[in-house]
Amino acid sequence: MTEKSSWEAFFDEHAPIYDDNVFTKSTVLEVDFLLEELSLQPGGSILDVGCGTGRHSIELAKRGYAVTGLDLSSGMLAMAADAAKAANVNVNWIHADATGFTLPGRYDGAVCLCEGAFGLLGKGDDPIAQPLSILCNISRSLKPQAKAVLTVLNAAAMFRRYTNKDVEEGRFDPLTLVESSEHPPREGLPAVAVRERAFVPTELIVLFRLAGMSVLHIWGGTAGNWGRRPLDLDEIEIMIVARKTAEPSAAGDA
Ligand SMILES: C[S@@+](CC[C@H](N)C(=O)[O-])C[C@H]1O[C@@H](n2cnc3c(N)ncnc32)[C@H](O)[C@@H]1O
Repeated sequence: MTEKSSWEAFFDEHAPIYDDNVFTKSTVLEVDFLLEELSLQPGGSILDVGCGTGRHSIELAKRGYAVTGLDLSSGMLAMAADAAKAANVNVNWIHADATGFTLPGRYDGAVCLCEGAFGLLGKGDDPIAQPLSILCNISRSLKPQAKAVLTVLNAAAMFRRYTNKDVEEGRFDPLTLVESSEHPPREGLPAVAVRERAFVPTELIVLFRLAGMSVLHIWGGTAGNWGRRPLDLDEIEIMIVARKTAEPSAAGDA
């Protein structure tokens, strides 16, 4: 990989304190939930896209699954590798951009959680092509009929949060559903300018279809508060459970 993207820079700096975030504290319950939804055989293979510090990957590996964790940030992956060592489990860590990896047909299930890459736009990323390319790569990596669980930002909550002044001043674009902000990854470090894309359920269904996946469920899926409940306008995140039903279409490569 060449020059660091803004998200790679952000997460490299954020890595040492990522697991202090309150929304990371329900991992064991979340993995119980994932295993109920993914319908895996014991010991099945799982791909964790945007795995971060590996909290889901490691818990899945502890339960006997063969896990691959893929992430753009070497800082996050270093934390993940240390945590896996401490937990005495093996996970296959891959340093890669989720928009550009190929692991064809290998996995019984996939997860991409807490915006693990999906909609975290690099400077030049197109707001439609970026999430679509990630979905196509996830879909290609799955065996036929395998399932995937994703949690992504909910545009409805952004519509309620932002004002026309925010739109005028460039903090939120109602055409692309992109939020632009400056985040200090850690106190004392310079702010990093980042762009995050939110989604509406109807476009998610279309994007998943283009990637060869059928959406089975759409629920409220805010980090730290998962449940099989209807999506409402204030949920920070949407959860999608989908099944691979075809190979990605040509349009999905756009
Ligand atoms: C908010 S964290 C989520 C981590 C983990 N899935 C969780 O639930 O805690 C987002 C992760 O996505 C990774 N990421 C961002 N853009 C990415 C990309 N284009 N390809 C792969 N990983 C990416 C970041 O490095 C970060 O580790």
